[in-house]
Amino acid sequence: MTQYGVDLPWVLILASLGLSALAIFVSVARHRHQRSKGVKTSASGDDVAPEAARKVLREFEKNGQSVDAALVNWSPETLRKILAEDLPDAQVIVVSNREPYIHNEDKNGDVKLVVPASGLVSALEPITRACAGTWIAYGGGSADHVVVDANDRVQVPPRNPSYTLRRVWLTEEQYQGYYLGFANEGLWPLCHIAFTRPIFRDSDWEAYEAVNRKFADTVVAEARNERPIVLVQDYHFALLPRMIRERLPEAIVITFWHIPWPNSEVFSICPWRERILDGLLGSSIIGFHTQFHANNFTESVDRFMESRIERADAAISFGGQMTLVHAYPISIEWPVELVKSLPGVEECRTRVRKRFRIPADARLCVGVERLDYTKGILDRFQALEELFSRHPEMIGKVVFLQIAAPSRGTLPAYKHLHDECLRYASELNERFGDETYHPVVMVAEHHSQAEVYEFYRAADICLVTSLHDGMNLVAKEFVAARDDEQGVLLLSTFAGASRELLEALIVNPYDAAMMSEIMLQALTMGPDEQRERMRRMREIVRDNNVYRWAGSMLLDAARLRKRDELDRVTALSERPANINRDNVVSIFERRQAAGYR
Ligand code: G6P
Repeated sequence: MTQYGVDLPWVLILASLGLSALAIFVSVARHRHQRSKGVKTSASGDDVAPEAARKVLREFEKNGQSVDAALVNWSPETLRKILAEDLPDAQVIVVSNREPYIHNEDKNGDVKLVVPASGLVSALEPITRACAGTWIAYGGGSADHVVVDANDRVQVPPRNPSYTLRRVWLTEEQYQGYYLGFANEGLWPLCHIAFTRPIFRDSDWEAYEAVNRKFADTVVAEARNERPIVLVQDYHFALLPRMIRERLPEAIVITFWHIPWPNSEVFSICPWRERILDGLLGSSIIGFHTQFHANNFTESVDRFMESRIERADAAISFGGQMTLVHAYPISIEWPVELVKSLPGVEECRTRVRKRFRIPADARLCVGVERLDYTKGILDRFQALEELFSRHPEMIGKVVFLQIAAPSRGTLPAYKHLHDECLRYASELNERFGDETYHPVVMVAEHHSQAEVYEFYRAADICLVTSLHDGMNLVAKEFVAARDDEQGVLLLSTFAGASRELLEALIVNPYDAAMMSEIMLQALTMGPDEQRERMRRMREIVRDNNVYRWAGSMLLDAARLRKRDELDRVTALSERPANINRDNVVSIFERRQAAGYR
């Protein structure tokens, strides 16, 4: 029995089954809470914590902090602790297409730094800093070549370097085929089901494969030993996990798919569906934002691959290798450092209204995103039109500020969307506005994070009405920006964030009439109700911050590593092809027989 009243074999069994760190923390907290109240808990596997979690917990108690604090206080320090204690000497390598810092040359020939508008970047940047890792990404900035060393590396963040950015160069043709073509005209619409037809071309697939191989070469070159932890990001790299596995069999490869995964019927239209699944199943763990998308992935594997699905264990056994398929809802840092340096909410309101000539007495609705057809921008305009038609008394009282960062602009679908947004905005302005009142302000420009947070703070309502979204971090950023506990969030039911932020006003973006009525509800909501909803949402984002997202994956990685170590120590001649309770017990028994502690 452990100090938690748990039989050790059960600890091993359940740990190996890959329960999420979240569940484990909650169960430990519940157990302690029950014990403090004199409630006897059973010795079921419910009450286990991995080593790092227990240590972090003990640490909090030593410092006099409550278990609740331990539950919420996921921070860079927690990540460092997990890495140091559960994954000692592990090198963390992040791979993504988009780089966290882009160096561009301006028209005077000066090098300008841009932090891209990407949820992926804002989630992973604080983690890579905390881990002092290596981030491998496509060097797409016009001055990216200028600032790297002889090994194509640059230390970042530029002002306070804490990790290495390794840039990978692509030819124009590779970029066209791999990024614009297969990733963004094929996989992006395939996975989002926003009714934009995916386009599949042989030449794009070839470029995609070649670029994935190039990144695999770079991972191997950057790995300091045989056993790095590689965090592969997103739909640009479906083939990379298998390529890494072939070259570094002992690596832990955690792949995170940041966009939705469609049902198997939709996925089946991809001509290279088996290759994509095979590539991804080279991962030790595959993560999605929601259980729904994780289930869709498992269904696709079940339908197209000769595999064994261990549903109860959330695991897939394929080709003698096991892959865990889990939901890890991504989030943002908490607290958001930037917010501390921003002016107060009143000052932000004044500044934004002045900047865009918004009348002082108009209610301000804000939308912030990349200019992308999955975001439902036109549907939002339609809801505004519907609002004005159904409730003409609102004309003159509402302004909708749409901030849309240009993205993938050379693709026809994106060019078309850009033109349509401008056309629709000016149509609404002509129909409902006059010389001084423009109900829609459409700004198709990139803005810095500080500006974006100023928009959030200035808003009465934030509209996140995507047609489909893995998570959507704008929803969480808006909540984080509102330390005044005011502001209303309208959130699409098709964004992963709607599974967590239940106090938002949830809408179906395809239903303009419904959305207009909910907009009215938001526009007329009193401060008390706003506060109540916002307070609860802030608690949720605080408790489930990005360090918890990363920490959960790292803890699961630590479990896998420990299991591999057990296999090695006991010198098992044959590794079980998949993990089930019998296998784990036998590993445990053999481990004991070998006298290994
Ligand atoms: C969104 C998605 C990410 C994706 C990114 C790529 O933010 O949620 O999963 O990686 O778009 O955007 P980009 O501008 O780099 O094509």
